[in-house]
Amino acid sequence: MALKFITAEEAAAVVQHNDNVGFSGFTPAGCPKVVPEALAKRAQAEHAAGREFKIGMFTGASTGPHLDGALARAGAVKFRTPYQSNKDMRNAINAAEAPYFDMHLSMLAQEMRYGFLGPVNVAIVEAADVTEDGEIVPTSGVGILPTICRMADKIIVELNDRHPKEIRGIHDLCEPLDPPYRQDLGINKPDDRVGQPFVKVDPAKIVGVVRTSEPNDESEFAPLDEVTKAIGDNVAKFLVSEIEAGRIPAEFLPLQSGVGNVANAVLGALGDNPSIPAFNVYTEVIQDAVIGLMKKGRVKFASGCSLSVSRPVIQDIYANLDFFKDKLLLRPQEYSNNPEVVRRLGIITINTALEADIFGNVNSTHVNGTRMMNGLGGSGDFTRSGYLSIFTTPSTAKDGKISAFVPMVSHHDHSEHSVKIFVTEYGVADLRGKSPRQRAEEIIENCVHPDYRPLLRQYLELGVNGQTPQCLDACFAFHKQIAETGDMRDVDWSQYRG
Ligand code: COA
Repeated sequence: MALKFITAEEAAAVVQHNDNVGFSGFTPAGCPKVVPEALAKRAQAEHAAGREFKIGMFTGASTGPHLDGALARAGAVKFRTPYQSNKDMRNAINAAEAPYFDMHLSMLAQEMRYGFLGPVNVAIVEAADVTEDGEIVPTSGVGILPTICRMADKIIVELNDRHPKEIRGIHDLCEPLDPPYRQDLGINKPDDRVGQPFVKVDPAKIVGVVRTSEPNDESEFAPLDEVTKAIGDNVAKFLVSEIEAGRIPAEFLPLQSGVGNVANAVLGALGDNPSIPAFNVYTEVIQDAVIGLMKKGRVKFASGCSLSVSRPVIQDIYANLDFFKDKLLLRPQEYSNNPEVVRRLGIITINTALEADIFGNVNSTHVNGTRMMNGLGGSGDFTRSGYLSIFTTPSTAKDGKISAFVPMVSHHDHSEHSVKIFVTEYGVADLRGKSPRQRAEEIIENCVHPDYRPLLRQYLELGVNGQTPQCLDACFAFHKQIAETGDMRDVDWSQYRG
């Protein structure tokens, strides 16, 4: 069946008000760009004509300004799931204009299949190649592509020639059966392949192919500052000491590392540490540091859901596919983040907390308990099932006015039962086998910024009873102080005593 080439505007006209649309990709990598932009323009035109136009949005994770940004600015969001990090989308969410369902990324595809989240009317997917018999080869990010292609009534392909057709073979694509027929996923090593290098769809569902040369939105990494570098070094030193103590096997274990600068810095520090053997990565986003370490022979293999790398790095990968192709594998997030695989492989997980409490609970998502930052992402997929679950964070934010460690988290994403280790620029808190009181001491002593250590010790004296010495009157005093003076260091506990 011949492919039908159409314009982005013609593709946008396929989508109707109230439709649920599934988008490929994971981070800006692999996301369609020109059709979402055209869709946003269509929404604006409909709104100008006095008609409603909103769509439900399923993506792999965050996207880029062409997708989340454009549709949020156009006021075209009926609902949004599972993760975002775009300023305009964040503002729309926090203004209650875009209903947002923040969820574990590994669970999205199956919950769509279970029928929990409604139908997928249209799938809009970026491809490096598409054939007349319905083979679709994704680009640098996969996300939920196999599931939306199968579930959607109609598929629009954005064929992007920035991604060479020769990328075919870098993906491992499939979907598990649903319960009661689910079997183990078959991944026993990071490089195990269990799927196909393409997704096969009914060609009759492909309503159009839009050609584009739009580059990926840049994933930029800030230069290392002293805090980020110290966190990276502390993680590396800690892992070396765990190998020496025999608690991590000498051949090491696969690593997962979260998103952003700290994650990139941590990986760089691990790679530079000669006491850590060359290692494998089984993660969600493959960032610049992994590719650099691969070239130095320090990372042997990396399995992920996307290549969330800067433009020079993606160009380097594409120019040297012969070198990279047997060292990189891109999977759907249902596989890259699957807790079953994480537990089996014994993955060391490293994620960033927005806020943590002195008893070991982590908030990854909400500023002051109310404002959504990005979302949970894959942090829960990995943390709960990891061999060793580590959270990193700078000890303070906003020039020291906010302590990353508070008496009680203002929103709860990861519990004290899952979190094993905290690392800040000051050091490492090891929570394993410790009671809440012992954990509090360990965290205050090793991770909290010195400005906040006395304040948090004084807090512990307020809550004298019980397994966890919380003082329910005072546990949010730090957060209230932000509203009052803008500086947590101004907290005065005297009003809570006696
Ligand atoms: N209260 C208020 N603001 C805070 C804060 C706190 N407790 N802690 C950090 N911030 C602010 C910072 O000041 C910064 O603000 P700015 O953008 O205005 O400078 C912003 O939050 C981001 O902080 P930063 O230190 O730059 O962290 P980051 O870029 O490493 O992101 C998370 C941290 C938690 C937002 C990010 O890791 C995330 O979204 N995690 C959840 C998803 C996840 O873990 N995915 C990985 C799974 S594989």
